[in-house]
Amino acid sequence: MTLWSGRFSSSMDETLWDLSESYSFDHVLYAHDIRGSKAHVAGLVATGLLSASEGDTLRTTLDAVAQEFQSATFIRHASDEDVHMAIERRVTEMAGDVGAKLHTARSRNDQIATTMRLFTRDALTDVAASCLALIDVLVTLGDDNVDACLPGYTHLQRAQPILLTHQLNAHAWSLLRDVDRLLDARDRLEVSPLGAGALAGTSLPIDPDVAARALGFGSTFANSLDAVSDRDFVAETLFAIALLGVHLSRMGEELILWTTREFNFATLGDAFTTGSSMLPQKKNSDVAELARAKSGRLIGNLTGLLAALKGLPLSYNRDLQEDKEPLFDSVRHVLLVLRALGGAYGSLIFHGEVAKSAANDDFLVAIDIADELVREGMPFRQAHELVGRLVGESVTTNASFADVVEAHDEVKRFGPLFAEGESLRRRSSPGAAGPLAAPAQRRRLDASRSSALARL
Ligand code: ARG
Repeated sequence: MTLWSGRFSSSMDETLWDLSESYSFDHVLYAHDIRGSKAHVAGLVATGLLSASEGDTLRTTLDAVAQEFQSATFIRHASDEDVHMAIERRVTEMAGDVGAKLHTARSRNDQIATTMRLFTRDALTDVAASCLALIDVLVTLGDDNVDACLPGYTHLQRAQPILLTHQLNAHAWSLLRDVDRLLDARDRLEVSPLGAGALAGTSLPIDPDVAARALGFGSTFANSLDAVSDRDFVAETLFAIALLGVHLSRMGEELILWTTREFNFATLGDAFTTGSSMLPQKKNSDVAELARAKSGRLIGNLTGLLAALKGLPLSYNRDLQEDKEPLFDSVRHVLLVLRALGGAYGSLIFHGEVAKSAANDDFLVAIDIADELVREGMPFRQAHELVGRLVGESVTTNASFADVVEAHDEVKRFGPLFAEGESLRRRSSPGAAGPLAAPAQRRRLDASRSSALARL
């Protein structure tokens, strides 16, 4: 018998039960649900629907039930449809008639909306904190290789030399935007739905502000229909995580490339690589491959939820129960990736000499020669054409680009540009990839990291 069986003459068919029960996955919400219930009790006491001592009994009992969950001694009854029913059933078993007052002026509809907001708020904080931890690892790796450089790529073709810190910081900046987005989503969810009831509020005297304050929400709902049907906060969270996953997948892809024999820019620590069951020489960057792959499920969780929400009539529909597994899944998997990737970057040995010799590719000096011609007054298009012809000559004759430049009187004065590190040093404009611009970027990055940390 469920807690709502009053108006039914036969019990639920097993197939419907299997389809609709959610305890099997929503039991992880127990702590947040109990927190919401304790705030609800405070609200009932405030307006006299419960006496102070009834309130105390309920709160103590709710704590005892939380303890059972924590110690894994909570026993689900066959009729517990979801975590809310299970907790209320147990509270009533333990506290008798007072327990049966817990659900006064409340529906599972405003209850689950509240519980989900509480869970999502904590999850957003966890994910944002893990992003910041990964950023720390990237910054440390840069600090340990502060002079290291590599070619910067466009179209995955060598383009211009850049500092390693510049490449790592590029990822840090995208992760910082993720932190911002996660915390923005958290700010927007700070509205308490408790008191909306099933959909239309209640005739009983309640004060939703009391529960809202107890839960630390900044405000209470203005419209009860919206309060029970809104899952924007879940969708926003799934989007913020999906985009974060996309960023992590790009980092994963880069690690995969760097650790190939072909690039050989870096090695991951043994603890963050795997071997092959057949090929004894293999050392595989699975951590990076999984970072790349997990983005697929994170995107899937977002699109799955959006599809479930699309076209739903107001207000609560059971469809909304489908918000849970995608959220739990995305939070769990993005945290796994963030932590493992942090470990992987922490174990990374950057092969400075290999990357430097790739960065000192003669051709990467082509733009510097064109820039010098511009400085001397030549229109850029003409300079581009002239240098392009020299590059073409180098390619067709197989002579090095530096030798070709040396052999042409109109450009041979630019020979010193080929000196090691010179091209990199000249990348000095604001936000550029060279050492002269690096300190200003680092100051901005540190300021953004501190303000993100302060928002946590
Ligand atoms: N387990 C349900 C959910 O997650 C709780 C709300 C059920 N409400 C209802 N009217 N059946 O959405």
